[in-house]
Amino acid sequence: MIIKTLNIQNFRNYTSLNLELNDKINIIYGENGQGKTNLLESIYLLGFTTSHRTFTSDNLIKSGEEKAIVKGKLIKDMPYNLEIDLTKTKKQIKIDDKIITKTTDYIEKMNVIIFSSEDLDLIKGSPIERRKYFNLELSQLSINYYSALNDFNKLLKIRNEYLKELNQNIQIDLNYFHILTDYLVNKSIFIYQMRNKFVEKLNNICPPIYEEITGLKGFNIKYIPSIELENFDKETIKKTLEDAYNNHLEKEIRLKSTLYGPHRDDFTFNLEHNNLREFGSQGQQKMAVIALKLSEIEIFKDFKKTSPIILLDDVFSDLDNIKKNNLLKHIDKDMQVIITTTDLDSIDKKLLTKAKLIHIDNGQIKKIEVEK
Ligand SMILES: Nc1ncnc2c1ncn2[C@@H]1O[C@H](COP(=O)(O)OP(=O)(O)OP(=O)(O)O)[C@@H](O)[C@H]1O
Ligand SMILES: [Mg+2]
Repeated sequence: MIIKTLNIQNFRNYTSLNLELNDKINIIYGENGQGKTNLLESIYLLGFTTSHRTFTSDNLIKSGEEKAIVKGKLIKDMPYNLEIDLTKTKKQIKIDDKIITKTTDYIEKMNVIIFSSEDLDLIKGSPIERRKYFNLELSQLSINYYSALNDFNKLLKIRNEYLKELNQNIQIDLNYFHILTDYLVNKSIFIYQMRNKFVEKLNNICPPIYEEITGLKGFNIKYIPSIELENFDKETIKKTLEDAYNNHLEKEIRLKSTLYGPHRDDFTFNLEHNNLREFGSQGQQKMAVIALKLSEIEIFKDFKKTSPIILLDDVFSDLDNIKKNNLLKHIDKDMQVIITTTDLDSIDKKLLTKAKLIHIDNGQIKKIEVEK
């Protein structure tokens, strides 16, 4: 999959930008605060319909403006155009100028994998970050997961409202509450199974990559559901979750919140039995995230029969040469890669000669060079 052209208007610090991208390697360079990450963010937005940095559209629209537009021409088998229009209150998504009302019809069209310094939060941060990561990746891989998760979140919100009302002794339709709980259990089963399958797949692919880039053996990822599951069979999940809800209803009412389910799951990244979160060095954590993302590329190619677009936000500056080369080895010759850096010297010379170099200065293209 390739993004051929990118047009952005009133997005972050860009008033207007029209950029033609190289099919293979693109390097966006410039000083701090000039708009390199913003440019990658616009491509990410085009793929996911949300930003990787913020939840609100407000920050994405250029200060003082009303509307931001991001457009991209993509080539998979056939070319097609994606567009996202943002106002402070509304988001409109389009494929080939036609408005799309269901995000599920859009989200699979463009696959993007981003590597950025914020990714370190994945290991160091709270379980929320890890769930967000796994949800995003699984949603890109499976539209059914995306739909199940959306349904689950809607049901969860209503169930929590009911728990609040029960807490205040408001009379509610208990039958309906139990039906709602049943629906929630049913949606959860698929989410648990998909998360488990994805982690299993990662555990096949990730450890050798981690070993190759760090020399360390024993890397593994563990899925830690909020309920103790003996296995991931449908019946086991159903029964365990139902028991948890039945046995702890009083507590849930007291705390006004649904305490069990996929929205409370966690994942750990480990070397043998040691959680890298507490035990790993900064570098080991960073390489774990890189190994994870590289594994994703493999999984994408396998599932989707096409390579995702790779965005590397300033990841080269603090890696040593061996790690840099190892990283590059895994990025397929045939993939489109968009790299940002403040320092062209930190980029491998061979890579530079193959790349399109785009100099960004204060939200504008200052210079473009295509090396031969
Ligand atoms: N909504 C907005 N309107 C106008 N400018 C914005 C908006 N949001 C962010 N900016 C500006 O964008 C700039 C940051 O851009 P960006 O994060 O892309 O920088 P960068 O080139 O990646 O820098 P670094 O090398 O430090 O990572 C800041 O100057 C910030 O003020
Ligand atoms: Mg940046």
